[in-house]
Amino acid sequence: MSSLVGTEAVVEVGPVAHGGHCVARLDGRVVFVRHALPGERVRVTITEGDDDSRFLRGDAVEVLDASPERVEAPCPHAGPGRCGGCDFQHADLAYQRQLKAEVVREQFQRLAHLEVEVTVEALPGDDSGLRWRSRVEFAVDADGRAGLRQHRSHAIVPVADCLIADQRIIDSGVLDTVWTGCTGVDAVAADQPADAVLVALPDGRSATVVQRVETPEWSGEFRIGARGFWQVHPGAAPTFVAHVLETLRPQAGEKVLDLYAGAGLFAAALADAVGRSGSVLAVEGHRPAVVDGMRNTASRRQVEWRHGRVDRVVRPLVRQQIHTDLVVLDPPRTGAGRDVTRDIATLRPRRIAYVACDPAALARDVAYLASAGYRLESLRAFDAFPMTHHVECIAVLVPE
Ligand SMILES: C[S@@+](CC[C@H](N)C(=O)[O-])C[C@H]1O[C@@H](n2cnc3c(N)ncnc32)[C@H](O)[C@@H]1O
Repeated sequence: MSSLVGTEAVVEVGPVAHGGHCVARLDGRVVFVRHALPGERVRVTITEGDDDSRFLRGDAVEVLDASPERVEAPCPHAGPGRCGGCDFQHADLAYQRQLKAEVVREQFQRLAHLEVEVTVEALPGDDSGLRWRSRVEFAVDADGRAGLRQHRSHAIVPVADCLIADQRIIDSGVLDTVWTGCTGVDAVAADQPADAVLVALPDGRSATVVQRVETPEWSGEFRIGARGFWQVHPGAAPTFVAHVLETLRPQAGEKVLDLYAGAGLFAAALADAVGRSGSVLAVEGHRPAVVDGMRNTASRRQVEWRHGRVDRVVRPLVRQQIHTDLVVLDPPRTGAGRDVTRDIATLRPRRIAYVACDPAALARDVAYLASAGYRLESLRAFDAFPMTHHVECIAVLVPE
């Protein structure tokens, strides 16, 4: 078995694939090529794989025939062997969204056996795809400089700027400071405080930040640990809450489950909609998030919190046949999985809103829900992570 890393070849680039790369073929084998676009002819350098590998990975190091959608990457740190944070800086922004839509369509076709028409929508206030990232985890190298990781590597690339980061994060001086003795620095730009908060790792003291969410129908305020989960794009939380409220149509007195509840974003909005005669059970596995969530919903007596794994909390609800009208679930990238989706379906809610940051996990879970009697009513996709391959989807499911 000999390594093919470093080997060069010229390939015709085929369709985009999930993960920030395109598919090409080399001597009958699939190569996942980064920094290329569909239809291009590129010189590729193999970055992973050997004689026996089922597939190879590579970087397009020279573009021989360029796609009309190719642009000059705005960031000098993007490109083969450089910062791994972005995947599509070399593609026109509207085209990035078309590529992501193609990935969502393909995942639903392959994993849910559904043909879906989806447009990846820009989030409000996003014209350029830059300066949206309100949370950045910088790594610190042996010299104490903060930087970003190379793709699929622990190597740290020093950067002078990060064009997708909120300007306040760069203005904080995080990239000009020597972080002696630190392994990383988490930078957070929130509604309050006005300046970015920096938390040096491993043992810097975390701070609390405030995020406000305003939709045409609802507004709320959330205090969260700087290192706790919050939607990274400033347009994301209001857009997702508005869409969940609009599609679930919660009514006064209804009973709601908010699974993977974080610091209570959906729980608070849904609690206001169902009122004191209704109830929201918020389930979250990370204890500091539960503490934040309880504080954020303290004025809403109809919200109850459970700390624990969703699968373990939901199973007894099924056994007790707890009446449930609506479910919102917003799991991490791995998705909810077979057991949780089956248990949700057994509770027979009249609507389910599934907020997903991985379209493959979502499509798989939509298939599980279909086999438990729920059909996909609507699917929207949002460009919550421009320049990267990530895309956020919200699927709404109803009983057959
Ligand atoms: C994508 S975040 C969503 C948070 C929240 N819905 C929001 O929009 O702010 C996923 C959350 O699920 C939590 N989580 C991950 N796995 C879990 C599990 N098995 N059980 C319960 N919570 C889990 C994480 O701690 C995180 O807060």
